[in-house]
Amino acid sequence: MKQGLCVYPGSFDPVTNGHLDIIERGAAIFPQVVVAVLHNPVKTGCFSIEQRLAMLKKACAHLPNVSFDRFDGLLVNYMRSLGAGVVLRGLRAVTDFESEVQMAQLNHQMSPDVETLFLMTSPEHAYLSSSAVREIGMFGGDVSPFVPLSIAQEVQAALQTKP
Ligand code: PNS
Repeated sequence: MKQGLCVYPGSFDPVTNGHLDIIERGAAIFPQVVVAVLHNPVKTGCFSIEQRLAMLKKACAHLPNVSFDRFDGLLVNYMRSLGAGVVLRGLRAVTDFESEVQMAQLNHQMSPDVETLFLMTSPEHAYLSSSAVREIGMFGGDVSPFVPLSIAQEVQAALQTKP
């Protein structure tokens, strides 16, 4: 098991300021953070995996110990392939708690050497989600307060063209 390596998995469709907050704080704790985008063939999402990865890279350009990858299938298998033992997740409001506990416990049961560490989302991002950003953008609202500055224009333009 590689020490000092953690994986921050998610959909990132698109990355929000809430995600960036967790990545920055994770990168201050762990020597190496891998941000891993789930490729779910059943749920294509709004942005392609390539777009999501490109936006993540742009938003995290100031973080030299953060790298980016994609995975499919079970997270625990991906963790094993990297030799990583720590999953990093952010917890927003209490509504996240049940599903996150379930995921952490099932992952731990399937792979006992995988631990999930939670960081509490900073209060200003407590109610922020990628789905809310998508909805705001698709209905013509300004997404710039909610996504990293470096990708705001790109997200806004892409969402405006969605049906
Ligand atoms: O950003 P999200 O959508 O909340 O991220 C959820 C994610 C990707 C971390 C989770 O759905 C996942 O790990 N999926 C991979 C499939 C898997 O391992 N499922 C078992 C978990 S109980």
